[in-house]
Amino acid sequence: MAAMAVLVMFFVAAALAAAGGAELVEHTFVVSQVKLNRLCNDTLVTVVNGQFPGPAIEVNEGDSVAVQVVNKSPYGLTIHWHGVKLQLNCWADGAGMITQCPIQPNKNFTYRFDVAGQKGTLWWHAHVGSLRASIHGALIIRPRSGASSYPFPKPDKEIPIVIGEWWEMDLDQLDKNLRNGYHLDMPRAATINGKPGDLYNCSGTVKDSNIVKVEHGKTYLLRIVNAALSSEYYLKIAGHKFTVVAADANYVKPYITDVIAIAPGETVDALLVTDAHPAGRYYMVAKASQSPKPVPQIPLFITRGIVQYSEGPRKEEEKALSDSSTSSIMAPEMPDEHDAATSFYFHGNLTSLQPQPVPANVHEHLFYALDGGFFCRKGESSCNNDTNMMGMVNNVSFQLPTTTPLLQAHYHGNMSSIGTLRELPDRAPRMFNYSKTLEPTSKATSVRRLRYNVTVEIVFQSPVLADTYSNPMHLHGHDFLVLAQGFGQYNAETDVATYNLLDPPVRNTVHVPIFGWAAVRFVTNNPGVWFLHCHLGHHSSSGMAAAFVVENGPTLDSTLPPPPEDFPSCENYNSRVAYE
Ligand code: C2O
Repeated sequence: MAAMAVLVMFFVAAALAAAGGAELVEHTFVVSQVKLNRLCNDTLVTVVNGQFPGPAIEVNEGDSVAVQVVNKSPYGLTIHWHGVKLQLNCWADGAGMITQCPIQPNKNFTYRFDVAGQKGTLWWHAHVGSLRASIHGALIIRPRSGASSYPFPKPDKEIPIVIGEWWEMDLDQLDKNLRNGYHLDMPRAATINGKPGDLYNCSGTVKDSNIVKVEHGKTYLLRIVNAALSSEYYLKIAGHKFTVVAADANYVKPYITDVIAIAPGETVDALLVTDAHPAGRYYMVAKASQSPKPVPQIPLFITRGIVQYSEGPRKEEEKALSDSSTSSIMAPEMPDEHDAATSFYFHGNLTSLQPQPVPANVHEHLFYALDGGFFCRKGESSCNNDTNMMGMVNNVSFQLPTTTPLLQAHYHGNMSSIGTLRELPDRAPRMFNYSKTLEPTSKATSVRRLRYNVTVEIVFQSPVLADTYSNPMHLHGHDFLVLAQGFGQYNAETDVATYNLLDPPVRNTVHVPIFGWAAVRFVTNNPGVWFLHCHLGHHSSSGMAAAFVVENGPTLDSTLPPPPEDFPSCENYNSRVAYE
């Protein structure tokens, strides 16, 4: 009987595959602590399946995904599918204490979701504390009908490029520090596909670099992810240009550039044509940008790998080269670390491939001031310093609930059980004072309720003076239409005229420029509780965040179903361990 069922299932699966039908893509993610050697040190890191970065998930658009997470780590864990829209499936979003309690050590949970209406590159990462620094990987979505239906020349090969950071400190401790306003911890190195490259002390050899082997005269699709906590990066390859074809799993009009700017949370798909001298070797460099003074300066984070043509040095020579000389490798000239304009133009030059239906009638106008503020601990008299800095939106520093995840409270009509709950104001308390020096802030679980199927416009404003960063703001479960960005203070009267209402790029992460603003629209077409936060680690962990509670619509099709039966329970969940 059972054999019969298996046989039937096999035939059904085979028939579906033959018809090009949707398939189920299954993975097992065993999360554990392993020793990995980087920078001449063995470091204990928490990773998926022993790999850093973790395995890529590859699907065709329309497929279903099931990922069984086996938690052999000492931490409570969730995995978030960054950028996947998860229609009517907020339960699978994996945002710790927003949508679920973490999967406890020695427990398992299987995430199930569909990937529909999106093509390109997304990624997955842990969404508890700062664990995403080592628990992440690419999520690659190809068109249902195969690579021949790409709206750009069919690449000969596809290559994921995951920009990350190498941390030697315990990531749970890092997060505690950030949540308490300490911002002094730094990664040890930047990485490309997990390799720090030859610029770091004690690395210094080519074998510590990510090597991309190419043939002359071919087209490669680079699927680039910024999985770093701390920095936006500039990416260049000496002697080559990129053609950007997608960002955040949405096609863009082909855009030719020699530099890519990519902030934490963002993804970029770019074609690389190997038309340089076939015997050459070319550095691929990722260099972190940072804010100018008076923001405290961090060491320069720069990592490089090599694009190696097959006609280049052969095995014997390679060995000699890798041990000593790297002088024959051509290096690109990188933008200055304080160059904000190159990123501004990169982001501003992207437009969607197709015209977008931009809703004209805006129901909710939100103005979110992104800033830092000081938080005074009990008994502290002077707390206006670098060890009390919290991120905030409209002067509220977001605090995760400690006992019940927001989605669960909302689903059971029990939001009042969240003791720290507060309605996020639609405006900053002092509208025209973003250039102030820093002010005290307060902590709360700030939420904004939104009716189903309304159009929301958000203008995000970075501080104009003083302590300031660019802020990659990411919304779960929805994409933004990015209508405009500008330097300086947003002016409602004049800046509306600059909105792109025709072909704005569609992104899950909007880059709010340093000293500037960005305006986005989206429609609340997916009921649930969706986290909105800056994707910089020191901002998100310290409270530059809020949650949107999108209500159910009038029909079954617009109503969030109940949670999966085996949903991680919050019983015995010791939030003190993870959140205090
Ligand atoms: Cu990349 Cu809240 O996530």
